Amino acid sequence: MTTNENKFQQIISHAKEYGFVFQSSEIYDGLSAVYDYGPYGSELKKNLRDYWWKSMTQMHENIVGIDAAIFMHPTTWKASGHVDNFSDPMIDNRDSNKRYRVDHLIEGLADKLNDEGKTEEAENLIAEMEQLLGAEDYTGLKDLIISNNIVCSVSGTANWTDIRQFNLMFSTQLGSVTEEADTIYLRPETAQGIFVNFLNVQKTSRMRIPFGIAQIGKAFRNEIVARQFIFRMREFEQMEMQFFVRPGTEGEWYRYWKEARLQWHLSLGISPKKYRYHDHVKLAHYAKEACDIEFEFPMGFKEVEGIHSRSDFDLTQHQLYSKKKMQYFDNDVNPATGKPFGNYIPYVVETSIGLDRMFLLILSESYEEEILTKEDGSTDTRAILHIPAKIAPVKLAILPLVKKDGLPEIARKVMDECKQHFRCFYEEKDAIGKRYRRQDAIGTPFCVTIDHQTKEDDTVTIRYRDSMLQERIPASKVREIVLNNIL
Ligand code: GAP
Repeated sequence: MTTNENKFQQIISHAKEYGFVFQSSEIYDGLSAVYDYGPYGSELKKNLRDYWWKSMTQMHENIVGIDAAIFMHPTTWKASGHVDNFSDPMIDNRDSNKRYRVDHLIEGLADKLNDEGKTEEAENLIAEMEQLLGAEDYTGLKDLIISNNIVCSVSGTANWTDIRQFNLMFSTQLGSVTEEADTIYLRPETAQGIFVNFLNVQKTSRMRIPFGIAQIGKAFRNEIVARQFIFRMREFEQMEMQFFVRPGTEGEWYRYWKEARLQWHLSLGISPKKYRYHDHVKLAHYAKEACDIEFEFPMGFKEVEGIHSRSDFDLTQHQLYSKKKMQYFDNDVNPATGKPFGNYIPYVVETSIGLDRMFLLILSESYEEEILTKEDGSTDTRAILHIPAKIAPVKLAILPLVKKDGLPEIARKVMDECKQHFRCFYEEKDAIGKRYRRQDAIGTPFCVTIDHQTKEDDTVTIRYRDSMLQERIPASKVREIVLNNIL
């Protein structure tokens, strides 16, 4: 196992041990690529969701939110192109019957070449794959797999079938009587709920172009090769924003959002070195220009967010299939003609980030196993999550040194002063060192200890997670210090 694989495994174990992420239906041996979030995981996920929502809606006067249903009229997916095009090229190994996504199979070899220091070979391989994917040349892709001696990890053979496309949408039946039932889909992206509501939202919120609609919600994809923990799931959550612009201005807005979204990531204090853009060669069926924001996960640089210039594709398609006008009347004066721009179907620039993938990014970035040298020379390890304070699941732990002498009563008073403002955690049990370690492991940025001196001078000890520094401060200052660091 490489060091990076080790780190990834440690993160997965840590996430389970400390109540962040559990395998779904674990008592029944789990369900592949479906996960549940535990007490601290659900807090962290909520904080990430709120951080994104606030940055989009509260910080932009021209972006409003919606919460559309997961089920949509089946024609939606015909119009959007998902019924016909939302598929991945797959290949099966005849000996093991194991199915692979073609790009994953080839990327697996590229990762191996990179690990061996053969970066140029890896880059050439990826470039050739992208060119073949772009041309939908499946014979060429199969030749690429064979000529590079890529074998199945189970059978070890290269006995491959031809490459075929598989649709990723889950379908189900609407209505209780099967014969009368209509096939509907679990949405594979949240974006379509925004498109079909475009005019409802524009009119009711009196928005004028350029404006955006933001949404957070579940999406479902029958990923054939679902792997790497919560990186690729079958049920996941997206945070998407569609920005509606005047045709001809989409290029500048695409560049604006490409930069703005990277800045959002950096606002969490993550090093820019951990990020890079990947401009798409093979464009999705709706895209005019597209890029991914990639993050350096323990398993290498991978997509965390997509920025797509979707042209007027979606609205035009919905107008065509629904026979309802999707036009906007722009009464701003066109300087070229001296007349209003008039009716048109807006162009769209989309930002789309996976909440679960962002969650994994935060765990990957913040997890550390620190080796501490004790006074006697022996060593100890401290598992710590350096989660940015503003999104940490618990902001403050309140710890009376002992369970007697009136200390719990004082600690409860501090708790009462703080708990309305941010998430606190109260604990009396175990030695103080042990309690600090547990808070480090869940990423709590501040701990305060109430001891006998508190009774004399009303001061407490505040301990900072990352530096482990401790200082004495008035008990009345605790709330203010924490608030100053989380807003
Ligand atoms: N509306 C555009 C769209 O859905 P996408 O690139 O397919 O674009 C956007 O998905 C984001 O959703 C990705 O960057 C990723 O963060 C997340 N995502 C996609 N599939 C996922 C999966 N199977 N599991 C977890 N996150 C996923």
